[in-house]
Amino acid sequence: MRMSRLVAPTLREEPAEAEVPSHKLMLRAGMIRKVAAGIYNLLPLGHLVISKVAQIVREEMVRSGAQEVFMPALQPKELWEESDRWGVYGKELFRIKDRHDREFCLGPTHEEIITPLVSDAINSYKQLPVTLFQIQTKFRDEIRPRFGIMRGREFMMKDAYSFHPSNKSLDKEYKNMFETYCRIFDRMGLKYKAIKADPGAIGGGFSEEFMVLADTGEEELSPGVRGIEVGHIFKLGTKYSEKMKATFLDEKNQEKPFIMGCYGIGIGRTAAAAIEQGFDKDGIVWPIAIAPYKVAIVPVNSLEKEQIKLAEELYAGLQAVEPLLDDRDMRVGAKLKDIDLIGIPLKIIIGPRGLKEGNVEIKVRASGEVIMVPIAEAKKKVEELLK
Ligand SMILES: Nc1ncnc2c1ncn2[C@@H]1O[C@H](COP(=O)(O)OP(=O)(O)O)[C@@H](O)[C@H]1O
Ligand SMILES: [Mg+2]
Repeated sequence: MRMSRLVAPTLREEPAEAEVPSHKLMLRAGMIRKVAAGIYNLLPLGHLVISKVAQIVREEMVRSGAQEVFMPALQPKELWEESDRWGVYGKELFRIKDRHDREFCLGPTHEEIITPLVSDAINSYKQLPVTLFQIQTKFRDEIRPRFGIMRGREFMMKDAYSFHPSNKSLDKEYKNMFETYCRIFDRMGLKYKAIKADPGAIGGGFSEEFMVLADTGEEELSPGVRGIEVGHIFKLGTKYSEKMKATFLDEKNQEKPFIMGCYGIGIGRTAAAAIEQGFDKDGIVWPIAIAPYKVAIVPVNSLEKEQIKLAEELYAGLQAVEPLLDDRDMRVGAKLKDIDLIGIPLKIIIGPRGLKEGNVEIKVRASGEVIMVPIAEAKKKVEELLK
């Protein structure tokens, strides 16, 4: 991507509306803009990061044996009456009417949709267990939407649901999901902890939350340690299948309610939590795996032909590692400030002195380390540093 074309309206000033670093920095880096309370536009950089988080989640869910589906956000009241939640869910549920006065809600979660879906598709214990997941927009009319996309009213979630013939089978998949979540957060380079939790409105028997450790976390885990809930896994049991009469035939040809589990990850919240764990006075310090671009190529003087030519060559050669070319006609200090604010892991700086000696400078965002390399070795060095 050429920075002269990139729609990333960076801000030098601290936005007054933001309280926590991730919110401030996502606004300042031009990643998000507010539309209404708890409702945000994702600009190109924000969308890229969210897409990377979602893709890691997707890959690990598929590796775990789960299948991806896509369910509607609009859900009819009747299904929520079957599960007995239309009455109890309260004001967090966005309720709407269609032109015929039929009632719907905007889904805050999808047990009411997936349970009849699986009940219709699966009849026999021979077809179990199955785990289905989606990455989709959720709606919750939060009493206090805040911290940008960390606690929104419209937000992206990965939600998965598993269906089993026995508790033993559920326990096995729950463990599989626990391990999958560990792989997901490990791949993103996050520090986290799983703790036993209150199942809340989702209900069921047993649940654990995955907490990213950060000073700004909403929850106190143990004295002095705070966490941001990024994932939540539940053993639901037969809470939904009994109410919604979702059954299968067991080995003895008897009708049994499915035993269920459900497993959520907040996609946007995970991106915000990564910032809470990775920032400094200059801006965001992305983990490489979810950085919007991995290397920025910066000619010091945007009018020097030789610098531009080399920048273009490096840009062409590095396409595989998602480069940003800073082709803006600006002072180098201002260019570097933007790139650090956005949090690009590596910079290649092309200056007159280095060029004379046949070198470029590679700067590592996280450590501040500066490495001079011969031009011919720049590509290899960048690839090595990104491993
Ligand atoms: N309002 C929200 N904005 C952004 N992400 C959210 C929001 N609510 C929940 N999430 C994410 O979705 C995941 C699953 O949600 P869930 O456990 O059902 O929500 P809660 O803990 O708020 O009852 C949470 O772990 C969190 O990462
Ligand atoms: Mg939760």
